[in-house]
Amino acid sequence: MDMTASASIDSQPFHIEQYQQQVHEATAAVRDATSVQPRLGVILGTGLGQLAEEIDVEVTLPYDDLPHFPLSTVETHDGRLHLGHLEDVPVVAMQGRFHLYEGYDAREVTFPVRVMAGLGIDTLFISNAAGGMNPLFRRADLMLITDHINLQGDNPLVGPNVEDWGPRFPDMSAPYDPELRRLVEDEALQQRTKLRRGVYVAVVGPNLETRAEYRFLRNIGADAVGMSTVPEVIVARHMGLRVMAISVITDECFPDALHPIDIEDVLAAAAEAEPRLTALMKGVATRLPAVEESRS
Ligand code: HPA
Repeated sequence: MDMTASASIDSQPFHIEQYQQQVHEATAAVRDATSVQPRLGVILGTGLGQLAEEIDVEVTLPYDDLPHFPLSTVETHDGRLHLGHLEDVPVVAMQGRFHLYEGYDAREVTFPVRVMAGLGIDTLFISNAAGGMNPLFRRADLMLITDHINLQGDNPLVGPNVEDWGPRFPDMSAPYDPELRRLVEDEALQQRTKLRRGVYVAVVGPNLETRAEYRFLRNIGADAVGMSTVPEVIVARHMGLRVMAISVITDECFPDALHPIDIEDVLAAAAEAEPRLTALMKGVATRLPAVEESRS
């Protein structure tokens, strides 16, 4: 069986040793292709790939050139790993990510996060497109994720635990790093960018929600809903990475005033917000060393 084409391991019994081996091989393949030793990892969401253009790229690796990498099946996502420098920060950026609705399981979706951690990153930035349920939110707003709810019915840590990667029962009391959050808020203030804060709930998708579902998701404490991010954050926290995540609110999901949404509307809103998101992430990246100094 050709295991280089994809990490589709769910057709056979899952072997954690095999998965670990695949992560190591993919990590080694990236290492062999570049001298960049990234400290920052970036996952760019739907229609939000622009930050990649700000990177002084040393090498771009299409996912299908990397052993065991899943392949992005969504038209709106590119599938490339960029290694280079964002300002002076050595970075690895995923342009295009994987979702459960594509048919991958949570372990496959998070395979690249294991690889990025293997490359040595200590910090992960994530962006995504999300539906806004907080009635104060507007289309094209940015929302700093302060916490999340996992409603995907899957978890990338299910199965035997790899002690070298992290603990069996990782803490989730503060998955989104409080110091990074303060930094983002300060940077947003300096850039005069309006920044919402809120709880992100992850669902499987791919359909958008019914009115009853939006009402339910709002009632359980979420401000925005999307189909990604949470598996990656769980794995990042499992491995002790610091996480920062920002949602672009691409549609207003108010159950009593709901309009039909199509993907073009979502992409148009993402495009409208993208320059603000890119500037914010770039600004925060350049200030990362300050976070480290204040920790030591
Ligand atoms: N629901 C779920 N995911 C989304 C939405 C939404 O309304 N908008 C963008 N991603």
